Amino acid sequence: MSKLLYINTFGCQMNVYDSERIEGSLKKLGYTVTSLLESADLVIANTCAIRAKAEQKAFSFLGRLAKIKRKKPELIVGVGGCVAQQQGREILRRMPHVDLVFGTHALGRLSSAVQKIEKNRCRIVDIDMSETVADEKAAPAGLPAEGIAKFVTIMQGCDNYCSYCVVPHVRGREASRHPDDILNEIKMLVDGGVKEVTLLGQNVNSYGIKEGLCSFAGLLSMINRVNGLSRIRFTTSHPKDLSDDLIEAFGDLEKLCRHIHLPVQSGSNRVLKRMNRKYTREAYMQKVRRLRARCPQIAITSDIIVGFPGETTTDAEDTLDLMRRVRFDSLFAFNYSDRPSAPSRKFSGKVAAHEKNKRLQRVLAAQAVITADIHAGMVGKTEPVLIEGYSKLQETEKGKPTGGGRQWSGRTSCNKIVNFDIDGPGRTTGDVIGRTVPIKIEKALSHSLWGTWCRDADTGPTTKGENCYAA
Ligand code: 5AD
Ligand code: SF4
Repeated sequence: MSKLLYINTFGCQMNVYDSERIEGSLKKLGYTVTSLLESADLVIANTCAIRAKAEQKAFSFLGRLAKIKRKKPELIVGVGGCVAQQQGREILRRMPHVDLVFGTHALGRLSSAVQKIEKNRCRIVDIDMSETVADEKAAPAGLPAEGIAKFVTIMQGCDNYCSYCVVPHVRGREASRHPDDILNEIKMLVDGGVKEVTLLGQNVNSYGIKEGLCSFAGLLSMINRVNGLSRIRFTTSHPKDLSDDLIEAFGDLEKLCRHIHLPVQSGSNRVLKRMNRKYTREAYMQKVRRLRARCPQIAITSDIIVGFPGETTTDAEDTLDLMRRVRFDSLFAFNYSDRPSAPSRKFSGKVAAHEKNKRLQRVLAAQAVITADIHAGMVGKTEPVLIEGYSKLQETEKGKPTGGGRQWSGRTSCNKIVNFDIDGPGRTTGDVIGRTVPIKIEKALSHSLWGTWCRDADTGPTTKGENCYAA
């Protein structure tokens, strides 16, 4: 009889990718995934440690599992990801119901650890970091290929040591996978029907440098030649490492989506210095200008931390000023939180929680105005949209989702979500999902766009890449 596996994935896309690998490797032991926590034989929490809140979420989920295990003592509980790497054995000490702690470099050894626990009911901690993602060949551990858009990890770890960040401590030093392994994995995904890949790394701009492989722009141009692939995305880029070649690639590679996530973190040079970001606001804005000169339609999104230790109200104003000058398409904004092993936890000038919240609200409100303006400017344009599936919920002008009929959902090259009605004969799941079709944008909403399938311009499956319908 097949055993049931429940995976709860916290945090970033890297964890989503790792969870797929976890699922793939445990399938070989006879596990199939369930969405019912209570029915699981094995529960894995794939955790995130980037901010204090993320860690709290993981621990509150693990707390729930204690109750379930009391009723079902044979349940195996595993904790993976960044919190596991960071806290290791301490998790076993604090949580007697946890059987397995496996770190960010232990995925290749996961199935044998689970087998040992099944057999001996022992408790295992594996936070050894000596094996890296560079040791992963194509299609690591039975990665499932279904879906239209998939993540592909191209590198792991980070050598930048931004002063607030836990990543170098929990994901280790930068290590890049060989281009052949990456290409083989992408070809395998495309053979399974995948149309879009998002290349993942903490700082993809420094891909391959340490190992003397090709540059990131070189890798992109190789991936651009994969037959059957429609779109390439990537995340995340450190502004200091954004190269001229990569800027050029946005003008040259037809499959490369017109979007870059370029976390600025702060608009104040004083704060950027204390963050150890190694660029100034002027240098950041210069890179933005060059990106836009090469590719005028490019969407730029960002991350901002508010209330970094020592951030004054003038520094906070500088961030708002930079936002208004750059006009990000959207951004993620976070209240600063102290992280273990990150140097900033010892910095003076901690900002009070209520002040951080005030600054966060100002950033979010300023961005909402900019995003609304950019979305409004898209109304009337026809955009190529890669259909990914049914929309989960349709956003309305009042912000509340309606329960109404089913809509298709996809994204533009600039990563805007577009929903549109299912209309026209023959537009059923089989022949629609995975196609790039022209959608006329009719309405701008806060987080998405609403459009109609533009029949006149629709010439069937798109094979020419992304610029065929660019407005
Ligand atoms: N506090 C708040 N936000 C943080 N981030 C990283 N570390 C912290 C921290 N200690 C944010 C940064 C990063 C994003 C993934 O999380 O903005 O780009
Ligand atoms: Fe963290 Fe900085 Fe590395 Fe990004 S570049 S993962 S913020 S240390």
